[in-house]
Amino acid sequence: MTTKVEYALKSHRRDGFIEWIKGLLAVPFVLHSEPAAYIQGVESWTEATNITRQQYAAIMSDIEQLIEDQLDNDRKGTPHLAKIRHLVPSIGTFFTKLPLEEAFYAQDAKRAISCRRLVSPSFNDIRLILNTAQIMTLASGHEPLKLVTLDGDVTLYEDGQSLTHDSPVIPVLLELLKRDIAIGIVTAAGYADTSGTRYKERLEGILVKVRDSTELTPAQKRNLLVMGGESNFLFRFSVDSATLVYVDREEWILPEMMKWEENDMQSLLDLAEEVITSCKHVMNLKGEIIRKDRAVGIIPLPGQKMIREDLEEVVLGTQRRLEFSECGRKINFCAFNGGSDVWVDIGDKRLGVKALQRYLGQISGRQTLHVGDQFASIGANDFKARLAACTVWVANPEETNDALQELCVHIDKHATKRLKREA
Ligand code: IMP
Ligand code: MG
Repeated sequence: MTTKVEYALKSHRRDGFIEWIKGLLAVPFVLHSEPAAYIQGVESWTEATNITRQQYAAIMSDIEQLIEDQLDNDRKGTPHLAKIRHLVPSIGTFFTKLPLEEAFYAQDAKRAISCRRLVSPSFNDIRLILNTAQIMTLASGHEPLKLVTLDGDVTLYEDGQSLTHDSPVIPVLLELLKRDIAIGIVTAAGYADTSGTRYKERLEGILVKVRDSTELTPAQKRNLLVMGGESNFLFRFSVDSATLVYVDREEWILPEMMKWEENDMQSLLDLAEEVITSCKHVMNLKGEIIRKDRAVGIIPLPGQKMIREDLEEVVLGTQRRLEFSECGRKINFCAFNGGSDVWVDIGDKRLGVKALQRYLGQISGRQTLHVGDQFASIGANDFKARLAACTVWVANPEETNDALQELCVHIDKHATKRLKREA
């Protein structure tokens, strides 16, 4: 549980692991920075570039070893002995090894990280190196990748938009289905209507392409699923209906969710609504409160905007109040800042991803990749998915597209190598 003071200092907005790596890479950067480089000409810094590249690579290789040490200790039942847990106390659990040195070289070739003499390795440089490393391991086939779950807003489409016919990410999603990898769209957007009308409208682009595909087998088409409201409503593509069909809760619900009583869930939402309403009045927010079966939120009034700081205040206030309530201890919930709105949902993406893994046949965290944009430690809803799956942290739908293309390229490269070895 993060304290209010930490929140006020914005530690929740920083990722401890990424900040730590940034600090390590800052050392070679500073030692080989060349203030005179742009005065003396480009050629003068080739040597500095080569040395910095080697040193950055050596640091990434050392971090790679530290992650292996954590995996070893976790396997041996001595997690407290993992060195990286002492160095970065906020570090999470890793599902796989991460080939960080190789991933660094790949991203360095694209982003010229070690060529820079005046701009140090950034948060985004490191985030993308980690993404590439995760993709490389998952594609290597040691443990075949079986499920890719994707967040909706900001990951698959721009905030509040839809997957339209021309969405550039659709072809690569079809490529994953063709490789027998299931796709689960795990979104906070919750529409209780079992006809799935709103999901069908928002995802129409991909539904039509899957329906009309002559390359996908019926089994591959059924591998397209939507988990809405974080972990509340499951839909699956049906070949007979040629669209999404509601899956009864009994078929997929996790044992830990079965214990939740309806009156506790409603009490939790009542309490959240009360706090959000107080915030609205005290801060004079230009928003409207929306109550749903499994969620409550505040959205901007038409033509109005709520500022980020106020949205975060609402998230923090509500989260704190719920954490200290009786119903909040019985029911998992997710309070987050959606960019222009705030929501409290029953359930979270850990449960959403886990339910899909179980429903599709005991898929493990090592065989699952979740792609999302919200990985800050509080007030962000993809963060919880880290407890169930490997993750890739994107900043926009273009990055999602790039990451999935990269995944397919690596999967195919490894498949070709395997075929050659077997021939
Ligand atoms: P995601 O990024 O796909 O998880 O979707 C998050 C966005 O969905 C939020 O920022 C809201 O704008 C929207 N949304 C619509 N209905 C709900 C709901 O019931 N709970 C949470 N978010 C919702
Ligand atoms: Mg999102």
